[in-house]
Amino acid sequence: MLDVAELHVSYGPVHAVRGVSLAAEAKRITLVLGANGAGKSTSLRAICGLQPAGGGSVRLDGVELLGKRPHRIVREGISLVPEGRRIFASLSVAENLRIGGYTAVRSRVGALTDEVYDRFPILAQRRDMPAGLLSGGEQQMLAFGRALMGEPRVMLLDEPSMGLAPGMVDTVLESVRAIADSGIAVLMVEQNVEAGLAVADTVSIVARGEVVRSGEAEQLRQDSSVVHALLGEAALAEEGTA
Ligand SMILES: Nc1ncnc2c1ncn2[C@@H]1O[C@H](COP(=O)(O)OP(=O)(O)O)[C@@H](O)[C@H]1O
Ligand SMILES: [Mg+2]
Repeated sequence: MLDVAELHVSYGPVHAVRGVSLAAEAKRITLVLGANGAGKSTSLRAICGLQPAGGGSVRLDGVELLGKRPHRIVREGISLVPEGRRIFASLSVAENLRIGGYTAVRSRVGALTDEVYDRFPILAQRRDMPAGLLSGGEQQMLAFGRALMGEPRVMLLDEPSMGLAPGMVDTVLESVRAIADSGIAVLMVEQNVEAGLAVADTVSIVARGEVVRSGEAEQLRQDSSVVHALLGEAALAEEGTA
């Protein structure tokens, strides 16, 4: 469904993403692992048009999206749930969802909101509460819900478990699994290696702007020391370039 090939992104002289290729398919979670500064967030931002790419291609069912404007890419069916969630703290849960529904046909907004509340009943209970008063895990569910309001076919998730209480990490990642199972293609960056591997189907490891390893999560679950070794090397390499 989503095919990212040979993506390049630079910040002035900093060549942050150097030929990254990634894929995401309906009902599957592609997990992207990598040390801090490896280029994971930059890749996600470039895929959804928030960061201009210097080269490569981003195809959704064969249609080239690279160079299209972010709102157009959302309409094509790709939603980003950014690092740090970026919900509107002073607005209510319901208002945050309405903002997520801005690309939806107006007559669909009610049904889409109900679907989000069915998926995350806690959000229904808190619908009139300012979003800033939700727990970290609830805010992450709201961020997922806001993205789901756009009826995405592909969701890009940037570190959804970041900053969550340990008990909440599995709950949030299980909801990512449920989102994928409902037919959406998920491309997820995660720092939490074990919890990410537990729900993922495919894994790509990024170091210094390049994919250094891709494989089935099933295999890596059996021997996650391979992943840790690669991430350890990647972290050292990242420090070396910093
Ligand atoms: N807005 C920016 N301006 C300049 N350099 C940036 C910017 N954002 C990220 N970078 C640099 O690009 C590289 C990749 O960053 P990022 O994609 O955020 O990594 P990751 O998400 O894997 O931690 C890093 O070297 C980082 O310092
Ligand atoms: Mg990042």
